[in-house]
Amino acid sequence: MIKFAVMGFGTVGAGVAEILQKNSALLEARLGEPIELKYILDIRDFPDSPFSNRVVHDFETIVNDEEVDVIVETIGGAKVAYDYTKRALLAGKHVVTSNKELVAIHGCELLKIAEEKNVNYLFEAAVGGGIPVLRPLHQCLAANEIEEVFGILNGTTNYILTRMVRAGVTFEAALREAQSLGYAEQDPTADVEGHDACRKICILADLAFGREILPEDVPTEGISGVTLRDVELVEKAGWRVKLLGRALRQEDGRVSAYVAPHLVRAEHPIAGVEDVFNAIMVRGNAVGEVMFYGPGAGSLPTASAVVADVLDAAQHQEKRKKIGWTERKAEQIAPWDALSARQYFRVKDGLHQVDEVFPGSEILSHQEHEIAFITPYMSCGELNRRAKSLQLCARLWVLE
Ligand code: HSE
Repeated sequence: MIKFAVMGFGTVGAGVAEILQKNSALLEARLGEPIELKYILDIRDFPDSPFSNRVVHDFETIVNDEEVDVIVETIGGAKVAYDYTKRALLAGKHVVTSNKELVAIHGCELLKIAEEKNVNYLFEAAVGGGIPVLRPLHQCLAANEIEEVFGILNGTTNYILTRMVRAGVTFEAALREAQSLGYAEQDPTADVEGHDACRKICILADLAFGREILPEDVPTEGISGVTLRDVELVEKAGWRVKLLGRALRQEDGRVSAYVAPHLVRAEHPIAGVEDVFNAIMVRGNAVGEVMFYGPGAGSLPTASAVVADVLDAAQHQEKRKKIGWTERKAEQIAPWDALSARQYFRVKDGLHQVDEVFPGSEILSHQEHEIAFITPYMSCGELNRRAKSLQLCARLWVLE
């Protein structure tokens, strides 16, 4: 009998309990033994829940119970969750989480503790919600040197962009919808300003390149500066706007990562990824390009990945799954302005000024006193330097 506990009975924690109830027979068959949710740790009570009798308020009850094999952490944040996770691992418990903030910031340290204690620390649900992507990246693509990983990593912002464009819903109303559907973070600023996608690209980069990239290494811009005007204008010219997280290995071996809204060509596979769906593309030097697609947020999709990790942890109790990356080294991270890109600008200038500053640009729209164009390919430092002499209204990255 495998017994486990859930810390944090919010959207994902409740989804874990629901899956357990719904699929208990098949989970037991796959595991080869029964599985029981023994405790739910939360500061609240849930009198109407069928699991109300499992609710406890004291972490010590869980961590000191020798019957508990696996602890699921769905508290979120990097404070209480960090403390409890560390103590749980040190106590020899396997820990499974959907907490991207915690893994992005403290993953390296927590995985080291897990290794010392010969227990599993698994976090498939932390990136892409229900999409299996971390395990395939780490295991199935292990034969590759990974050159690049990028994608739509936040369901809430993709949902907002889709609703604004397809249904003419306002930003605020679309955000409220995403919140009511259980997609958004407790503080949706983390979604809208790109912090959530930043944490996820850190985790993907950690696994892809085997070394720690921290959120402070990742220049991050969300969708709050994206206007409907630009979205409509670029759509007419055959592009879509998507918030992307991107990490790539430079020729000198250093890694660059960033999060920003991008123009993506309408025919690119990522352009058709709408609503809460996420898609992650990985380029390896043997496999080429592969894409992972599915629901990136929501109670049951995210809990689907959590419960699978619980089974995996239970099945690897003797021989833990080897997973980890080396600590951050500043010299392994490329400065942001060394990145090369094309960018989209909308400016209040004349054609001749654009021609002078960015000769060879692709003009998307030209009206009196307003030009929208895509620059030629150059370093971000150079793009910044040249852009200073123009009257900028909007600026977006371009995915090539
Ligand atoms: N708020 C996150 C999102 C939840 O919208 O993608 C899943 O990590």
